[in-house]
Amino acid sequence: MQGDLERILFDETAILRRLDEIAAQISNDYRDRELTVIAVLNGSLVFMADLMRRIPLPLKLDCLSVASYHGKTEPSGEVIFKQIAPPDVQDRHILILDDILDSGHTLAAIREKLETAKPRSIRVCVLLSKKKRRARHVDADYVGFEIEDEFVVGYGLDFRERYRNLPCIGVLRKELIARPD
Ligand code: IMP
Ligand code: MG
Repeated sequence: MQGDLERILFDETAILRRLDEIAAQISNDYRDRELTVIAVLNGSLVFMADLMRRIPLPLKLDCLSVASYHGKTEPSGEVIFKQIAPPDVQDRHILILDDILDSGHTLAAIREKLETAKPRSIRVCVLLSKKKRRARHVDADYVGFEIEDEFVVGYGLDFRERYRNLPCIGVLRKELIARPD
């Protein structure tokens, strides 16, 4: 599997070191408030598990499932919510967790949807961000790493649902993206 990578961007040690820093920041910012983490599945699953265990505060967890890519590597702009009712976030301090902020369509749609449920506050935390690709403005309060415009996999990020279990984050070889499934 690792052989399908053009190169490794962040190994597990680098990722976890960065998570220690973000978790410390979040723990400090939310020390007097009860935090509700809303994880965007499936991409944020690994990130969420490692980050959450580094936050020594009482917190609640809810998950949202959306589809925005439909098996391609380019965003379609269309975001489909896979559950009928969004999590109950009224009066809660919520922190949305996602794997990567790319065009911004996904997080903009999620934020808009959750705002209608009247949370007390909303913040956004992403492991990765590709600034150059932004089509919609999204404020990310916590960002693990800024990366270039390259398609990456591993540590929860997929290409056609594969590679999520890679412990590192790396750039997928271009010829694999071009090949039909
Ligand atoms: P956005 O709506 O374009 O911001 O895309 C966000 C979603 O697209 C993420 O939650 C990922 O699931 C997926 N995505 C964007 N870039 C990548 C990438 O480089 N590798 C894997 N998934 C990606
Ligand atoms: Mg994905």
